[in-house]
Amino acid sequence: MVKIYYYKEDDSPMTAPHDSGEPVAAEELEKLGVFYKYIDSQASVDNLATERQYKNRDYITLDGATFPGGEEALNAKLDVFFNEHIHEDEEIRYIIDGTGYFDVRDNNDRWVRTLVEKYDLLILPAGIYHRFTLTDDKFVKALRLFKDEPKWVALNRIDGNTESNEFRKEYVASLSS
Ligand code: LAC
Ligand code: NI
Repeated sequence: MVKIYYYKEDDSPMTAPHDSGEPVAAEELEKLGVFYKYIDSQASVDNLATERQYKNRDYITLDGATFPGGEEALNAKLDVFFNEHIHEDEEIRYIIDGTGYFDVRDNNDRWVRTLVEKYDLLILPAGIYHRFTLTDDKFVKALRLFKDEPKWVALNRIDGNTESNEFRKEYVASLSS
């Protein structure tokens, strides 16, 4: 089951909890357009994929113990994932094993951290600012679902042009309606 809270900025590594002690209700995530569901069977995930017409999928494992190139290579990958970004498509993740943190920006540009675990399905809407990291356990196995062909492009906020992106504008408009 997810745990959701405001992220506390401090000097601990990104994989530390950064728990401000201020919880965020599941409804608040919903208002941001984030879909969450606990699904304890692969068959139900397959049903949801069919219902929502997610045609493609792949599996990703991030494991500190076995990552090709070792811990340094894994950390380099995590640095990329932790760079605040948007996509022009939904980001759909089903956690098969292990744990991870998804951070999303709320309306006031505060980071909301969601701890995901086995059987958690999270769908981030196109255009939402987000980032991902592992927990200190450094292990996750996840199913990634896609509506069509996987779109891997991450548009990083730091590059300064995300606010004029059509998918970002559409997302922002959806919040105020
Ligand atoms: C992704 C995560 C890191 O784009 O947000 O795969
Ligand atoms: Ni992403």
